[in-house]
Amino acid sequence: MQRAALVTGAAGGIGAAIVAKLEADGWSVHGVDLADADVSTREGNQQVVAAALERFGRLDAVVANAGIQHVSSVRDFPEEQWDRLIAVLLTSPFLLAKYAWDALAASGDGRFCAISSAHGLVASPYKSAYVAAKHGVLGLVKTLALEGAEAGVTASAVCPGYVRTGLVEAQIAAQAAAHGMSEERVVEDVMLAAQPVKKMLEPAEVAGAVAFLLGPNGRGFNGSPLVMDFGWTAR
Ligand SMILES: NC(=O)c1ccc[n+]([C@@H]2O[C@H](COP(=O)([O-])OP(=O)(O)OC[C@H]3O[C@@H](n4cnc5c(N)ncnc54)[C@H](O)[C@@H]3O)[C@@H](O)[C@H]2O)c1
Repeated sequence: MQRAALVTGAAGGIGAAIVAKLEADGWSVHGVDLADADVSTREGNQQVVAAALERFGRLDAVVANAGIQHVSSVRDFPEEQWDRLIAVLLTSPFLLAKYAWDALAASGDGRFCAISSAHGLVASPYKSAYVAAKHGVLGLVKTLALEGAEAGVTASAVCPGYVRTGLVEAQIAAQAAAHGMSEERVVEDVMLAAQPVKKMLEPAEVAGAVAFLLGPNGRGFNGSPLVMDFGWTAR
């Protein structure tokens, strides 16, 4: 029987790469994005799990990938942006796990994977909501691992450094304009300042890590993150 996965934030960037890789590996994949449902709401998370179950009649993996960013000092951070980031980056993974739990347990080898970040392990200024949520999702994954032991469900996370997606490309252009620097210098001196290796990951590399975690050799990764950050958090 073909294994079935649900992937959120699948319209582009890392999510689209995860869908493509899992399909290439033989998974049936239900990829969803804002056009299907808003995962910042309870109903949105309920809908996407229900739709995947209706489509495939089973669910063996959930990949909580949808994400947004807001950059501001704590002092000036808009409270509605805080609420929205926490909803998408932390509450959605919780609700996806909750609503998919029985199906993942019925799978016999259910897997949950969250796309956290190097910002799940260390902070950067002006990203309070993002950093808090990405740390929080690692706590969620640990809890799911403990609760899932009896049910046959495992949970893991991926912590990438910067990944070359549309969102990041837009940040490069904006920061280059703001700092009056070339795009190349902004990447090396500003965005990748904390990374010993001044390179960005490609979405396909993150997708490869997710496919590994969801595959037969990933079953032992439980409650722990797979860190792929070019040495950022080695300092
Ligand atoms: N790009 C990076 O450098 C990087 C690094 C580490 C972690 N991440 C994480 O990887 C994940 C994917 O990011 P990406 O870089 O591919 O970004 P992206 O903007 O290319 O993709 C994110 C997707 O999530 C969708 N989304 C956002 N809010 C949603 C909502 N409320 N309901 C449904 N869908 C929603 C967006 O429409 C978008 O298609 C995010 O969780 C992000 O935090 C990204």
